[in-house]
Amino acid sequence: MNTKSKLSQKVLKNKYKPLFQYFINGLKDLYWAEKAVEALLKKNKSLAYTEELSDALEEHEKQTQKHIRRLEKVFDSLKEKAEAKKCEAMAGLVKEAEETVKETPENSMTRDAVIIISAQKVEHYEIASYGGLLQIALTFNMDSVADWLEKTLLEEEETDELLSEIAESFINLEAAHEDEDDNEDENDEKSDKKNTTSSPNKA
Ligand SMILES: [Fe+2]
Repeated sequence: MNTKSKLSQKVLKNKYKPLFQYFINGLKDLYWAEKAVEALLKKNKSLAYTEELSDALEEHEKQTQKHIRRLEKVFDSLKEKAEAKKCEAMAGLVKEAEETVKETPENSMTRDAVIIISAQKVEHYEIASYGGLLQIALTFNMDSVADWLEKTLLEEEETDELLSEIAESFINLEAAHEDEDDNEDENDEKSDKKNTTSSPNKA
């Protein structure tokens, strides 16, 4: 029996179990969440001050597109329609991210520090979701599905670590030296700097 028909048998056997139904709903929730993350990354990549952060967000935006395709493969292999179900938690995280980033001064390290923390809150939600669903897939012996979920989980974890590194290497330190007046005085200067040497996304 090939892997596909083995998987179909497992789906048939478990389809009506509450845990299996929770699993499918969890995938639909993540499918909605990933699309919301893609839009948030696109927005924050253009708001980021430093090239380092903007590049990291762009890289994760590309990965997120892969995560969406991967979830579609999972739905397909489970003979389920790829359907997005509004993820209230992610909707809240995105709203909070948009509000807090908006409150920071433009072209500032403070803005980058806040974008990073917002992105990490999103990553942690995804890590918990993928980690939990991966374990359920393993429990139902759906190894190929578990493999896809694990690939995405590892990329979410790597992104979280990369964001920590960027924050800790220089952004938080420089943000700690900024104050409101500084920022108003230096805004023009920073914009000029950005347009010539930094963040090609704004050039
Ligand atoms: Fe993702």
